[in-house]
Amino acid sequence: MTADQAVRPGTGAADLAARAAAVLPGGVSSNVRLATARTFFERGSGPRLWDVDGNEYVDYLLGQGPAFLGHAHPQVNGAVTTAVGRGMVFGAQHALEVEAVEKLLAAVGWADMARLGVSGTEAVHAALRLARAATGRRKMIGFAGQYHGWLDTVLMAHGPDGHRPGSAGQPPQYLADWVVAPFNDAEAVQRCFEEHPGEIAAVIIEPMMCNSGAIAPRPGFLARLRELCTAHGAVLIFDEVVTGFRLAFGGAAQRFGVTPDLALYGKAVAGGWPVAAIAGRRELLELFGTGKVNHSGTFNASVMAAAAVSATMDVLRETPPYVSVEEHGTALMTGLRGIGERHGVPLHVQGLPAAFHVSFRAEGAPPTDVVDHASLQSLDLARYTRFSRTLTTHGIWVAGRGIWYVSAAHGPAELADALERFDRALAAHVAESRP
Ligand SMILES: Cc1ncc(COP(=O)(O)O)c(C=O)c1O
Repeated sequence: MTADQAVRPGTGAADLAARAAAVLPGGVSSNVRLATARTFFERGSGPRLWDVDGNEYVDYLLGQGPAFLGHAHPQVNGAVTTAVGRGMVFGAQHALEVEAVEKLLAAVGWADMARLGVSGTEAVHAALRLARAATGRRKMIGFAGQYHGWLDTVLMAHGPDGHRPGSAGQPPQYLADWVVAPFNDAEAVQRCFEEHPGEIAAVIIEPMMCNSGAIAPRPGFLARLRELCTAHGAVLIFDEVVTGFRLAFGGAAQRFGVTPDLALYGKAVAGGWPVAAIAGRRELLELFGTGKVNHSGTFNASVMAAAAVSATMDVLRETPPYVSVEEHGTALMTGLRGIGERHGVPLHVQGLPAAFHVSFRAEGAPPTDVVDHASLQSLDLARYTRFSRTLTTHGIWVAGRGIWYVSAAHGPAELADALERFDRALAAHVAESRP
């Protein structure tokens, strides 16, 4: 597809959507994809995707984050292919898992030990269990608008009246141990500790909030959490499933200069392969090692997982993409803002170059700095969700919730195509929105 063509719907996707609807609930395998049930991709390469009808897209969704090196990275996929030729799961240890974790710990910098698992959701679960076992306490402090997976004990919907289960079928008592504070509000966290003396096992936080907007921590916020956790004997857990290996080789902990006690990694840790990791201080992780705390999984540290992590760490160490990601993301954010201004549209672009959020301010509203989940609601998020469908039909693959992820593979050609396509999509959106 050339830059001036919009995506053409074809029979390939329509046929597959009909077949999928008959056998997959909602036509999808993860509820996050319900909005994209009619899109079927045939392949991805580097920063681009091709659908089954031959349309090409610049990809800023990256599989919700994992394709940080671009799709089908040859060094990572080559390492996995070679490794699986010798077997895949043994129910015992193998050299690659030791190598992978050694490299992961070298990247992270501050952690003593780690274990590999399959999903971020499971890694979160393991961390919360460790924190409770280590402290003998039950309560957790979390932050409104954050996402730590889809399990009963962590899935929450947040509103002005507090938090509630995020799904039908989720017993509310499973959330009874949560104390929820606004992101970026250290005084509120301090009050949570004061109101529950000796009861808080852990503070768990996405150190940059990417599941609601793309909100960086205010200077000093994470450092204050560190102080509060230390003072109150609670475990500080960074959920780096999105930020790990993306914001820096050492993740958000390195980028913002604050060291947690435990951190969870997923997505970018394995170049697109399904792997997660829990890393942290020895005295905490050793609770798994002594058998006191159970952490298990048939597929933990499989040969493919270990090979993918090991190769991903090699690529990130040998050819660090962080400067190019920063440059691409900065130019993209600046370009999108400029296009919004040219069209007279109140576009809101906020975040860091590696992960930023695009939305609209309400008509007539002044520019605003979104700092937490409540202030995010001042944006016209529904308008962006509608616009995101126009973006996809113009060859930019993005999430409806506004997050844009930049990969190591995005270059000048993608920047030029993305800006040109965004310009056309916004023109179409403005024309559609006219009364
Ligand atoms: C911050 C964060 N934590 C945990 C998870 C859960 O990870 P997974 O989808 O691999 O279970 C996600 C998923 O998007 C996430 O963004």
